[in-house]
Amino acid sequence: MAFAGLEGRVALVTGAARGIGEATCRRLLHERCSVVAVDVKGDLLAQSCAAMQGAVMPVVADISREQDCERMVAEAANQFGEVNLFVNNAGVIGPRLPITELPVEEFDRVHAVNIRGAFLALRAVLRQMQAQGKGGAVVNVASVGGLNAQPLSAAYGSSKRALIGLSGTAAHENGPHGIRVNAVCPGAVDTPMLAPAMNLPSVPAGAFKGLPLGRAADPSEVAAFIAYLLSDEASYQTGGVYPVDGGRTI
Ligand SMILES: NC(=O)c1ccc[n+]([C@@H]2O[C@H](COP(=O)([O-])OP(=O)(O)OC[C@H]3O[C@@H](n4cnc5c(N)ncnc54)[C@H](O)[C@@H]3O)[C@@H](O)[C@H]2O)c1
Repeated sequence: MAFAGLEGRVALVTGAARGIGEATCRRLLHERCSVVAVDVKGDLLAQSCAAMQGAVMPVVADISREQDCERMVAEAANQFGEVNLFVNNAGVIGPRLPITELPVEEFDRVHAVNIRGAFLALRAVLRQMQAQGKGGAVVNVASVGGLNAQPLSAAYGSSKRALIGLSGTAAHENGPHGIRVNAVCPGAVDTPMLAPAMNLPSVPAGAFKGLPLGRAADPSEVAAFIAYLLSDEASYQTGGVYPVDGGRTI
């Protein structure tokens, strides 16, 4: 299925080497976007992009570095002329520890990527979109962990809750520029992040039986909703915070 208004647009996706970011690149390529796939893991990114079909350009960048964020946008604009769509997806999971045992270095490491890095990437992209003067659409990838407090998740949960706040501010400020900004909150998604998020070496069979849909999401299911929010079919949706969680937050 094709969503209206995606064909021919230029999309920048962070955290693109695997998981939700990789699936989103694939979906947007399927929708005939040009895709700038950004990740800090160069080898993995090269492998993933080599297996994709369409106009995809890998850019190795660390979103926690201001200069990398500016460079990734400049490289995208040089290659494809502009940036129309942005998926602010790169993120890391922290150690599952109670607050009283959480080293400040771990708190800072998670926040450096999940909120400070997401801010730097968002700022660089919004400056580009505003300068282009043609509008745009952004999806920030938060988490159900940013909606509902969970134990042993101080750094991750607080970073994702902050990202939801940042997303709302960006929606306010950029509506007048024709740029829509939304946040998605995935629940359990079957990616390499899932087992560490559960503090387990692998995800046990039947782990998600208690959810209304009884299973974790495939990354493509999150990518489909992101693609919808980026498309013209979501033309009146901005400032939204959308769980994609198989009913977990009911
Ligand atoms: N998997 C889940 O269950 C789940 C649930 C809720 C939210 N999320 C969120 O979805 C997003 C994607 O998660 P995923 O499950 O695909 O994770 P993942 O670990 O499979 O992939 C994340 C990608 O981001 C990249 N990355 C990490 N730090 C980076 C940095 N500083 N600069 C550039 N790239 C960086 C990694 O190299 C990796 O390729 C994350 O923001 C995560 O918090 C995931």
